[in-house]
Amino acid sequence: MSSTNKKPNIIIIVADDLGFTDTSAFGGEINTPNLQKLAENGLRFTDFHTASACSPTRSMLLSGTDNHIAGLGQMHEFAQRIPEKFANKPGYEGYLNFKVAALPEILKDDGYYNFISGKWHLGLSEEHWPDKRGFEKSFALLPGAGNHYKYFPKNNDGNYLNFLNPLFEENGKKLNPDTDIPDDYYSTDYFTDKFIKFLNSNDRKERPFFGLLTYTAPHWPYQAPESIIAKYKGVYDNGPEELRSERLNRAIKLGILPEGVEPHKVETQREKAWKDLTKQEKEIESKIMEIYAAMVEIMDKNIGRILDNVKELGEEDNTFVLFMSDNGAEGMMMEALATTAERFQHFVGTYYNNDFENLGKKDSFVWYSDQWAQAATAPYYMYKMWASEGGIRCPLIVSYPNLIEKKDDGQIKPAFVTVMDILPTILELAKVEHPAPFFQNRNVVEVRGSSWVEYLKNNTDYVHDENKITGWELFAQQAIRKGKYKALYIPKPLGTDKWQLFDLSTDPGETNDLSAVHPELLNELVNHWSEYVAETGLVECSDIFYEALKGEYEKKVLY
Ligand SMILES: *[C@@H]1O[C@H](CO)[C@@H](O)[C@H](O)[C@H]1NC(C)=O
Repeated sequence: MSSTNKKPNIIIIVADDLGFTDTSAFGGEINTPNLQKLAENGLRFTDFHTASACSPTRSMLLSGTDNHIAGLGQMHEFAQRIPEKFANKPGYEGYLNFKVAALPEILKDDGYYNFISGKWHLGLSEEHWPDKRGFEKSFALLPGAGNHYKYFPKNNDGNYLNFLNPLFEENGKKLNPDTDIPDDYYSTDYFTDKFIKFLNSNDRKERPFFGLLTYTAPHWPYQAPESIIAKYKGVYDNGPEELRSERLNRAIKLGILPEGVEPHKVETQREKAWKDLTKQEKEIESKIMEIYAAMVEIMDKNIGRILDNVKELGEEDNTFVLFMSDNGAEGMMMEALATTAERFQHFVGTYYNNDFENLGKKDSFVWYSDQWAQAATAPYYMYKMWASEGGIRCPLIVSYPNLIEKKDDGQIKPAFVTVMDILPTILELAKVEHPAPFFQNRNVVEVRGSSWVEYLKNNTDYVHDENKITGWELFAQQAIRKGKYKALYIPKPLGTDKWQLFDLSTDPGETNDLSAVHPELLNELVNHWSEYVAETGLVECSDIFYEALKGEYEKKVLY
């Protein structure tokens, strides 16, 4: 460990819908040597929490506060479908609002060189683009998802389709996808190329930098080069149940999960369990998982390019690198449901070719089943969009050689932390005060997260004390946590429609509802829930949410 007066460089890498145990550092079989090395040089967190979906998490990351305050109180794609609840509600603007001081805005004032490459999803209109929020250089896919290759279908009028609209901007200028995106575009490679270009730009001069790299991998549609997919041939032929138990075992061996942990039962919305699939159906399911794995491997390889680049610059020791997923693995095709199931079927049927031989190619459109998703989120219950742990507990790796001493094979850190903590952590490392209540001629809110610096230095064994209250809400699912206890409310038809109570210290799988055993504790947490609603201005919507979306939400217990 060396000390320095130089401001630290910051790199944050966000994966999209990556599962808890996908990478080898967390028990996965996918070839991810670069993240493995990052983990071995730094810290892996096992109790890191995000929101249950993408843009809300990103709003918390860049603001240090709750998504219901920062403008993503609900995924905008959904909020628009229920205007009677959400229209004109503060905190539901659908973009990173100006009540918050964004991390790059604050760092810019402190002399940082800020750049972003990848998905934005924090505002489609020009006045909300990254260059308006403190990023000096930007290359951004503005919506929540995109085709990974250059295949951007148009409708009969010659306009791009609304769904997966290839809206890109570069340094505040809207791009023409036909002419500005190269023919050999592949999202993960290209976002990395741009990141590396910004990192090495002469415009950086001697300034410390903050680089944000937001991959769209491994978000659907699953697409990857055949040569990488081929490396996973046969790996998934035993199905999701087998994969789940292999990963659980490895994660326990690594110390990511406690010995004897009881995983939650798997539930599915699909017709069939793996064992009931035909040979052909199994081949398709395996192939889909192989493509997914290839996408994760490609992401890891590109992360390696960046880490090598930082080393070449001689900045390795003075660079804080954080790698995270934005929410749990995706098991529900969530954004697709926002367009209604029929329109989505029509979209895939009209513009894509899902013949077996074509899977993974630029004009294929596949995603994996909720059973694969639960192989990735186990032992936690369910996946993205859920307020249960499967939706909100994510892998997190932090490395910063100037502060964090390398120990053996890396350290595994159990403290409860959230994505809102990242901003205050970085500000403390950069020795910058948060500007609230005034910033750039506007009122801004305080952060709700807490700095990890003392915890990273191993001076304390917690970040949030046992009285800290943390809430979650999206898609009408509600959760509130105090210390080791969590109250969870999942409305019909997905859940019991009642508050449940779990002790996460002994039951991270949320298998044993303690609400009848400790009614007084549940009562206390539900009171905290009301405070949380009042503090954040969140709009409760369990009364109409699933009704309004008319999705197909039947599910059954599998194993
Ligand atoms: C962290 O601090 C604790 C308590 O002081 C100590 O037992 C442990 O070895 C330290 N860990 C590391 C990695 O230095």
